[in-house]
Amino acid sequence: MRKDLGVKPAIFPMPVLMVATYNEDGTVDCMNAAWGMMADMNKVILNLTETHKTVSNIKARGAFTVSIADNGHIAESDFLGMVSANNVKDKFERTGLHAIKSNFVDAPIIEEYPITIECKFIEYQGGENGCGVVGEIVNVSADTKVLDEDENVLVEKLNAIMYDPFLHGYYQVGNKVGQAFSDGSKLK
Ligand SMILES: Cc1cc2nc3c(=O)[nH]c(=O)nc-3n(C[C@H](O)[C@H](O)[C@H](O)COP(=O)(O)O)c2cc1C
Repeated sequence: MRKDLGVKPAIFPMPVLMVATYNEDGTVDCMNAAWGMMADMNKVILNLTETHKTVSNIKARGAFTVSIADNGHIAESDFLGMVSANNVKDKFERTGLHAIKSNFVDAPIIEEYPITIECKFIEYQGGENGCGVVGEIVNVSADTKVLDEDENVLVEKLNAIMYDPFLHGYYQVGNKVGQAFSDGSKLK
């Protein structure tokens, strides 16, 4: 038996993306965003509400970074999704996290998150059907502890978390269970 559940966000998993920007005074802001994804091979789309401080910062500086939240920083990542730099000026400082400037764009990299996508702002798509922030990836940087000797990112070392839109849980990404573009070959 199946039940119709109506209209709701029902794609799982959703990522836990940490979007970092500079405020006008050079301090750091960072927000939690689950509504985000890759577009094409070098673009990122983030469905961010236009009134967030992050969006003003992205428009002002033309840049942002996106990190993947990890299991070691759940409270900090959640807090960054609950409090706005529009109201709390020392929002980022309160987390105890640390940031350095990207070598590629005018935006901060949060040192504690192991992998960061550095983006140039392309446009904000507003309106009822707009997708929000569109950015172009200009670099990806990663802590060497999550890389193999050929500089491939080892997902099992990220301790990445994902977001459950049904009951708002955070889950750690689990075991590898298959290989894309390969396991299906036996049915060809
Ligand atoms: C798990 C989680 C996911 C979120 N995803 C989004 C999102 O995709 N888009 C969005 O606009 N806000 C999202 N938020 C809310 C923002 O992170 C929140 O409003 C934040 O305070 C904005 O900060 P800022 O004003 O300093 O930019 C999310 C919050 C949480 C806790």
